[in-house]
Amino acid sequence: MVRMEASDERVQGVVQMAGSDSALVIRRGQMRDCKDLLTVYLGTHWQDGFTTVEQVRAVHRVPGLPRWGWLVAEHEGTVIGEVLFHVEQNPVSGKTGVIDDVGVDVRYQKRYGIGTALVRAAEGALRQRRAPRAFALSPPEAYNFWMKVKYFARGSLVRLGAAPKDVPRKRTKRVETREVGEVRTLPRAFQFNHLSPPGVLMTTARSVLGNVIPGRLFEFYSGDRLIGVGAVCLEGPETARFVADVTPAGEEFVDVVIARTAKAASAMRARHVFTVVPKAVQDFFVNLSSWKVEPAVEIPVTRLL
Ligand SMILES: CC(C)(COP(=O)(O)OP(=O)(O)OC[C@H]1O[C@@H](n2cnc3c(N)ncnc32)[C@H](O)[C@@H]1OP(=O)(O)O)[C@@H](O)C(=O)NCCC(=O)NCCS
Repeated sequence: MVRMEASDERVQGVVQMAGSDSALVIRRGQMRDCKDLLTVYLGTHWQDGFTTVEQVRAVHRVPGLPRWGWLVAEHEGTVIGEVLFHVEQNPVSGKTGVIDDVGVDVRYQKRYGIGTALVRAAEGALRQRRAPRAFALSPPEAYNFWMKVKYFARGSLVRLGAAPKDVPRKRTKRVETREVGEVRTLPRAFQFNHLSPPGVLMTTARSVLGNVIPGRLFEFYSGDRLIGVGAVCLEGPETARFVADVTPAGEEFVDVVIARTAKAASAMRARHVFTVVPKAVQDFFVNLSSWKVEPAVEIPVTRLL
């Protein structure tokens, strides 16, 4: 049960922790919460190498993280979980709410319904933004959680990998590549999905702009029309991940946008470059170059709001 508190506009609700007398406050996150969140991240993001509060701050300082897209769960004055989310546009099917990340301190997981409370609070905020459905990319180990909170798997993703040197150059004067430099807010075009799974372009772009990970961002123009965007970032010393997407006006240039974004990994000294896309669009990539195609580990899940 979620009850609204009128006294503090940052508070979204107070929830009874399942099987306990304690209350959990769900409220908007603030930069000072990053100290507590480091403890959460040490358990939930251990594979990403978080060791300092500054790294956790960088995740939350990045341009374009709207204040309403960050909620935390506080128990007896300590933050023990958070959820990050946003709304974006699919140029074909409209608005989608995306839950980028949800994490709970390992000592409190699977006992008190905290993850459920965070997801429901995020859904409430997404509903207020008129998103008709919520979407998340689940790691395999969290899949059962998403099933318990009534999400269902939708479609499947593939991982396409290649050596950047084998990706064709696609030189054409009809498409101009512009690198996105330092900006205070994320260009709107990064807030959509068409070829890429919802949220991936935006979270990658935010991480690059916020210097959470080294990478580069591009906008592609044909004349003065924006036809596509791309992001490439280093995931390891020799491995880069890229995300490329086109606007409806850019469908005829999809191969140029994909090739130029993937090729940019060469300049970052990556020997491998990969992307994760819905299986339904893999032909756009496969027709361009020879990729190693594997099932992706992430599972797309969704729920109507
Ligand atoms: C996924 C996560 C946020 C869930 O938070 P939580 O507070 O443990 O979740 P809840 O207590 O609300 O769990 C709801 C139900 O899901 C189950 N559940 C939760 N996490 C689970 C998991 N990883 N595997 C299997 N079942 C899980 C709970 O046992 C509970 O089941 P029940 O209703 O039968 O009792 C938390 O486990 C976590 O931080 N995991 C690591 C980070 C992660 O993978 N996040 C997802 C990124 S999209």
